[in-house]
Amino acid sequence: ILLISLVTVLIIGGLLILLASHYIVKPVKRLTGAAKEMAKGNLDFRIKHSKKDEIGELMDSFNHMACELQKIDKIRENFVSNVSHEIQSPITAIRGFTRAISDGIIPTENQKEYLEIIYQETLRLSKLSDHLLRLASLDSDNHPFYPARYRLDEQLRRMILVTEPLWTEKHLHIELDLQDCQVYVDQDLFEQVWQNLINNAIKYSDENGWIEVLLEDNTEAVRVHINNTGQAIPETDLPHIFERFYMVDKARSQSGGGNGLGLSIAKKIIELHKCKIDVTSNEEEGTCFTVTIPG
Ligand SMILES: Nc1ncnc2c1ncn2[C@@H]1O[C@H](COP(=O)(O)OP(=O)(O)OP(=O)(O)O)[C@@H](O)[C@H]1O
Ligand SMILES: [Mg+2]
Repeated sequence: ILLISLVTVLIIGGLLILLASHYIVKPVKRLTGAAKEMAKGNLDFRIKHSKKDEIGELMDSFNHMACELQKIDKIRENFVSNVSHEIQSPITAIRGFTRAISDGIIPTENQKEYLEIIYQETLRLSKLSDHLLRLASLDSDNHPFYPARYRLDEQLRRMILVTEPLWTEKHLHIELDLQDCQVYVDQDLFEQVWQNLINNAIKYSDENGWIEVLLEDNTEAVRVHINNTGQAIPETDLPHIFERFYMVDKARSQSGGGNGLGLSIAKKIIELHKCKIDVTSNEEEGTCFTVTIPG
């Protein structure tokens, strides 16, 4: 009897080991293999399966993780190629014009015009490096962040004053409707937000257009609307304008010294503060950016 029970136990044990190896060890081995493939840089790798149990769920999660990693890798790749393009194009212009001037190809009376282009291109390069450093610092999550209570209406008024030479040059009409209002955010960071939004409003307005800055303080939130006339942003571009390096009209942005980073920096700062930025744009009402700061 003892022998029979021993054999039965051994058979049952063996069967259990076989089952365990089929249902647990094999899939775990496949997962390990997949993880090794990904470690080698093969982000296309996916585990095919039809399991509905916990192991199947784990495999689905693994595939999802691989998908997300692939997306991040694509973003990184695009970022590097955008940066190198944005560096290369001003350098090409600077190199070409300096060589042409030094070779005497450009007549003396036209040289000033080309020197001005060279100067503008160096400014663009310097702004690009400034923006990239700012983005890297904001991305690192240890950017200095000092929220404080201050008067938002005063900050907006100051920003409009600072940009006066730009809007008077384009003969823009500025309309301010700013009620007294206090907010609790990082003042320096928000200064960059208004700077980017107001500079855009000026840059993308047509001559003699108008810009309206409206500040409303409701009990649940403070809202700033920055509205400008001029060519509207096409509906298909609207969802992308906050992406890094996205420019609706590349020629127009770049002639104004832009790289398509201003709005992505503004959005990053706004999200750091758990605030919100929205945009609407149409031919009748122009383009309006709304920043919502919860109370
Ligand atoms: N107020 C606006 N009116 C019309 N179009 C706008 C406005 N603000 C932004 N855009 C569009 O959104 C794009 C992205 O804006 P963003 O500020 O990120 O970049 P940029 O102004 O081109 O360059 P940068 O801000 O780096 O100098 C712009 O190229 C422009 O086409
Ligand atoms: Mg801009």
